[in-house]
Amino acid sequence: MTRYQYLASVISQRIEQGLYPVGVRLPSIRVLSKEHGVSITTVQQAYRELEEQQWVEARAKSGYFVAHRKIRPELPACCNATQCSLTIPQWDRVLEMVNPVKTGEIALGFAAPDITSSSLKPLTQALSRISQRHSLRAFDDEDIRGCAELREQIARLLIDSGSHMDASDILITDGCREALSIALRCICKPGDLVAVEKPSFHAGIQLLHGLGMNLLEIPTDPAAGISVDALELALEQWPIKAILVTPTVNNPLGFSMPVERRRALLRLAQEHDVAIIEDDTYGELSYPYPRPASLTSMDDTGNVLLCSSFSKTLAPGLRVGWMAPGSYMNRAIHMKYISSGPTAGLPQLAIVDFIKQGHYLQHVRRMRSQYQHNRDLMTRWVSDFFPCGTRISRPQGGFLLWVELDKRIDAQWLNEKLSELNISIAIGAVFAAAGRYDSCLRLNYARELTDEIKQAIRQIGRLIQRRMDENE
Ligand SMILES: Cc1ncc(COP(=O)(O)O)c(C=O)c1O
Repeated sequence: MTRYQYLASVISQRIEQGLYPVGVRLPSIRVLSKEHGVSITTVQQAYRELEEQQWVEARAKSGYFVAHRKIRPELPACCNATQCSLTIPQWDRVLEMVNPVKTGEIALGFAAPDITSSSLKPLTQALSRISQRHSLRAFDDEDIRGCAELREQIARLLIDSGSHMDASDILITDGCREALSIALRCICKPGDLVAVEKPSFHAGIQLLHGLGMNLLEIPTDPAAGISVDALELALEQWPIKAILVTPTVNNPLGFSMPVERRRALLRLAQEHDVAIIEDDTYGELSYPYPRPASLTSMDDTGNVLLCSSFSKTLAPGLRVGWMAPGSYMNRAIHMKYISSGPTAGLPQLAIVDFIKQGHYLQHVRRMRSQYQHNRDLMTRWVSDFFPCGTRISRPQGGFLLWVELDKRIDAQWLNEKLSELNISIAIGAVFAAAGRYDSCLRLNYARELTDEIKQAIRQIGRLIQRRMDENE
């Protein structure tokens, strides 16, 4: 990301947070140049970019003003039915989606971060330094709880989410998926009922199914998260054992739950004495900074289990995640012991080095602004190239856009057509247990949005339009 793009993303974030309301005059070019220590040309380029993205408008001899943005595409609709699902097929579809990328494929379906960023270089250097040292420590079994220095560093990082923990509160896992699996097995047994958001992350759905647990899908607002009213009704009617949510930078919808709703959710769970499993994988990639406080940080009962990983902030291939299982620590260590044993030491030691040298926070800061910039661009392309009436999510962090198409379009059909063009997307159907979201899809905008990607979005839009014309 260049300087002007960074500056543009700082200004658009301020506009989005309401610091500069619509119609207000923005700081002059000279003021911004001084404030950010950049050249006049950089500020001019940033304003030009913001003008192009319709965040600001230039008025002759008066400067730049916050624009009334062109009608923003509507948010996806909220599905209002609570649904209990005993059977979850769809594994074939998920497997197809997670198959390796083909050569030359424009893969827009994965939930992968940008691992090409130069700010990750010190991490690869640390990995090779540690392995070249033939450090026996990297070859030996780690502590079953995970490397103590890493747990200390994670406890420090968690301060940003409002939590005050120490190394003994944290258990290192093989990615967030293992953390979720341990958390679920700490609380539930096969046959138990778990409330989840609708739609929700497909691996979570598959995990619950694989563990023999049943899902209760609760209506979830695309801007504010799980419906606490619907959940309350469900808790009165069903023997729910746990609530699995991703309240900060949700996958796939991208929302961050407002603080009032977080409080209401916690209150409700406490009243019904039900544990919450909080998936915070994307929490650090929240565009607004400071990020929203986690549910875990707002809880004082020990009945909220935090699960996260470095898969989205650094790289999924490291397979390093963690959990703060609250009052379930002993059970969680046992589950870790019987499922995979200690997590590999080498990536943990390299991550400690990366964090301690100050590279981690710098990298995450850089990624946040890159992703925010890319969100605006991808949103514009989808609004411009997809047919009128397409609904688009408004992600508050991360790098995933949820798109709802006309009901006549089947995303599975679309994906098959796209494979002929070497393009792939994530189909909406896998984000729910039973055949919903057939006309939805999810797009990744983590990497640099090249002209090739722009053309791919244009081609997707054309295919959809053609199909709609045929079905008229
Ligand atoms: C919401 C969410 N939770 C968990 C995971 C899994 O993370 P990991 O790769 O660390 O197992 C993902 C990955 O896509 C995710 O999107």
